[in-house]
Amino acid sequence: MSAPPDLYGRRSKDRMWAFAARAVDAFEAVTRKLAGGEEPPPKPVVSLSTTVVVRKVTPEAEDVVSVTLSAPDWSPLPAWQPGCHLDLILPSGTRRQYSLCGDPDDRSTYRIAVRKLGSGSREVHALGEGDVVTVRGPRNAFPFIQVPRYLFIAGGIGITPILPMVKAVRDKDWHLVYCGRTRESMPFLDEIADLDPARVWIRPDEEYGVPVSGKELLTWALPSTHVYCCGPPKMIAGVRVDRRTGLHFERFSPPPIVGGRPFEIELSRRGTVLEVPADRSALDVIREAVPGVGYSCRQGFCGTCTLKVAGGEVVHHDRVLTDDERREKMAICVSRGNGRIVLDL
Ligand code: FES
Repeated sequence: MSAPPDLYGRRSKDRMWAFAARAVDAFEAVTRKLAGGEEPPPKPVVSLSTTVVVRKVTPEAEDVVSVTLSAPDWSPLPAWQPGCHLDLILPSGTRRQYSLCGDPDDRSTYRIAVRKLGSGSREVHALGEGDVVTVRGPRNAFPFIQVPRYLFIAGGIGITPILPMVKAVRDKDWHLVYCGRTRESMPFLDEIADLDPARVWIRPDEEYGVPVSGKELLTWALPSTHVYCCGPPKMIAGVRVDRRTGLHFERFSPPPIVGGRPFEIELSRRGTVLEVPADRSALDVIREAVPGVGYSCRQGFCGTCTLKVAGGEVVHHDRVLTDDERREKMAICVSRGNGRIVLDL
């Protein structure tokens, strides 16, 4: 299976950045272990399910639309903070996560923005006014904390969680670096133009001839600055190489598997045994044998891919299952096994 496209819609060929990301992950894992640190605790699951109506679909950039949703009777929607995302359950049953990028003070609507990259996003682009979809959440996997100084770094559609953050602190000390392939591919430039231009650097690769480096992205970062970054994996990897503290980032694709061990998956209903290599997820391997297996975030926080475990020792890496649920379920996108895991599939 090939790597997913980045947020600019391009296939990544850059092995150096993949290597850098793995090296940073490995370094962090080792330092955490040496410091006796724990993995972050599992996050509570918010499973509010709401039926909403598509009120508006607006072209925002090349291959990007925003979708405005409201309750059928315009009643107030669950509250959210900058950094929150919604699970969108499309008419086909496909489930995907999208960051909320509207106004948190407007409780009558949600706004998301979606770049056309795969089957789920194509279905979003086909939505029209009056269509009904289900949303779950909002959930917050990218917590936004109050600090005196911010640097926001966004790449392409990664602007979606960043935009409400910037607007929320526009009276504070902040800067924004917004990168993309071309200006035409970068959504919400019009809204960013309403912000203080002295604090914003719009940086399309096309105008500079080369992709931006991690050091350039961090030009405005002082030691006390908190850096919020959302964008393609190689952008995040570049920032992580040069910034060790006060860095908050959100990935839109799974992190590389670091220190994984091979294990086996037995699909009990099919009588099939699959080998999961050290550098692949159970989800990727299982989907080759059973293509219909559902997934969404591929990072262990949405719960879409969880399957019932009928035997074996699971090493859980998700952030969605409770201790009780972990006794009988496994999030196959991130969790692994010791030896052979038997799944009810
Ligand atoms: S796909 Fe979201 S938890 Fe596995």
